[in-house]
Amino acid sequence: MSLKLDFPPVREVRITLDVNDRSFDLSVEPRAILADVLREQCGLTATHIGCEHGVCGACTVMVDGAPQRSCLQSAARFEGKHVETLEAFAEDALMAQLRQAFTAEHALQCGYCTPGMLITARDIALRLPEADEARIREELAGNLCRCTGYNGIVAAIQRVLREHARERAALKTSHAA
Ligand code: FES
Ligand code: FES
Repeated sequence: MSLKLDFPPVREVRITLDVNDRSFDLSVEPRAILADVLREQCGLTATHIGCEHGVCGACTVMVDGAPQRSCLQSAARFEGKHVETLEAFAEDALMAQLRQAFTAEHALQCGYCTPGMLITARDIALRLPEADEARIREELAGNLCRCTGYNGIVAAIQRVLREHARERAALKTSHAA
């Protein structure tokens, strides 16, 4: 005897998301996670999906100015919030500096973790300009990398913080002169 299971069709909901200063009117399944919607419906594929359990940090995006996982909550819960993916920072000077530092310090191999790392690194550079190595490692604890052993990533962020410190010192000297 075959068992026939009849599941009711999933009814999609209409939502409006503010992503990278663009408004997206979308029809999504109520349980669709933000990361999937960003990639599949908004065409923003810089956001990677790894564990889908909030562990690896590959899916990190900015939400209302703070880094947040995009794999843990349904996209519908982000209505009314300002979401920024890595694509939003294509012309951003600090992100350009971080990308250069990641290259110079060999901070990536397969690159799978890199979008999430860059989002987190930018947040560290803005929020903690004086962070030492231990603090950087602590801040990066939510972003996993299977390839690099983290040394290059930490060195890249330190390089950018050093450059900023030099710029601040130069500015101070020029004001004092
Ligand atoms: Fe979101 Fe791993 S995919 S934390
Ligand atoms: Fe491969 Fe980080 S560079 S996971």
